[in-house]
Amino acid sequence: MSQTTTTFVPGLEDVVAAQTRLSSVDGQAGQLIIAGFPVEELASQATFEETVYLLWHDALPTAEQLAAFTQSLAAQHTLPRATLALLEAATRQKAPVMDTLRMAAATLSLRAEGEAPSADPRRDALGLVARFPTIVAAYWRLLHGEKPLVPHPRLGHAANYLYMLFGKVPSAERTRGMETYLNTIVDHGLNASTFTARVIISTQSDLVSAIVGALGALKGPLHGGAPGPALDMVFEIGEAANAEPYLRRKLEQGERLMGFGHRVYKVRDPRAEVLSAAAERLYRSDGDMGLYHLARQVEQTAVALLAEYKPGRNLQTNVEFYTALLLHGLGFSTALFTPTFAIGRVVGWIAHCFEQQALNRLIRPQSVYVGAKDRRWIPLAQR
Ligand code: COA
Repeated sequence: MSQTTTTFVPGLEDVVAAQTRLSSVDGQAGQLIIAGFPVEELASQATFEETVYLLWHDALPTAEQLAAFTQSLAAQHTLPRATLALLEAATRQKAPVMDTLRMAAATLSLRAEGEAPSADPRRDALGLVARFPTIVAAYWRLLHGEKPLVPHPRLGHAANYLYMLFGKVPSAERTRGMETYLNTIVDHGLNASTFTARVIISTQSDLVSAIVGALGALKGPLHGGAPGPALDMVFEIGEAANAEPYLRRKLEQGERLMGFGHRVYKVRDPRAEVLSAAAERLYRSDGDMGLYHLARQVEQTAVALLAEYKPGRNLQTNVEFYTALLLHGLGFSTALFTPTFAIGRVVGWIAHCFEQQALNRLIRPQSVYVGAKDRRWIPLAQR
């Protein structure tokens, strides 16, 4: 057997582990392409259903295809009884929303009342995408002593999520804001959760298992688990005049400014651009631009101070900064930020699973043994 000659790369940084037609991330040019479209173009124009169709079929749907696809997605919104029972149990313990989403996603291998067994992975995929918003919204309402709402039959996926959370049919502006967010974060190269999903599906395991694993990866603070602090920072600053002394103090103390810097992007994250424009539209339509203007001021000051304190590092605004602002404008608590990210990203995870299944090779890297050698067994009585 041949000895491996590959070197250990911590964090697999710069290691290419997949080919994908789903998204391309250019960190130098600050460009994100999703299934051939610049994120700026797709995010602000597509409905979420169009984006899902695009990622899963590699083509935009015709009107007829879109209507059929929207209908088959909406047909699977309802939760199996076992999922609702799990949500009620989690409510009694006040489990974090991400933990509950992970547990509830695992119950989706069970069928809803009267539902026939599925031999079609596309149907399982639709069930996962359709039910994530129902799970998060139902749990959120239960946590706050309210009854979960059944999905509204005339609303699309994004509008329904807002409806099921907040109990009223959202305006066109709010729906557009939600769709823009979900489209923007639908896929982003071989990030940790996407890689996790691909590893699991490469063993010929099932889609639900792959998605539950991906949720576990997304939850960590180094991935999707820390979007709240950027917003806390803006609130703590409170008014534009405080921005510079506050941020300077943080940098003097060696702290990191949340919402800035990125492993791949060395220029402004293109998603920050899209989400900042979406937040601006939303706050303008609500008639209160105060927080938006403050955030812009904080951003400009932060970027200037980062250049002063960390010259040559190219620390720019990342996706989290305006995610926080947009989701806050839509009425979301910070506890819902990461679960809402999952509601969009589950579509990308599934698309990667389909890609992996189409040309599957078990993902099985090597490790380099650095442990002890030549040990001899010592019986328990002699140790
Ligand atoms: N604020 C202040 N300094 C920062 C910084 C930030 N947000 N991000 C990076 N730096 C500094 C580091 O302290 C380090 O400085 P040093 O060389 O003087 O020690 C240098 O920039 C490089 O940092 P490093 O951690 O090697 O970069 P990375 O590529 O591994 O980090 C992040 C990427 C995202 C982890 C990092 O930028 C960060 O922690 N940002 C804040 C958290 C955040 O917004 N996360 C969401 C990401 S989408």
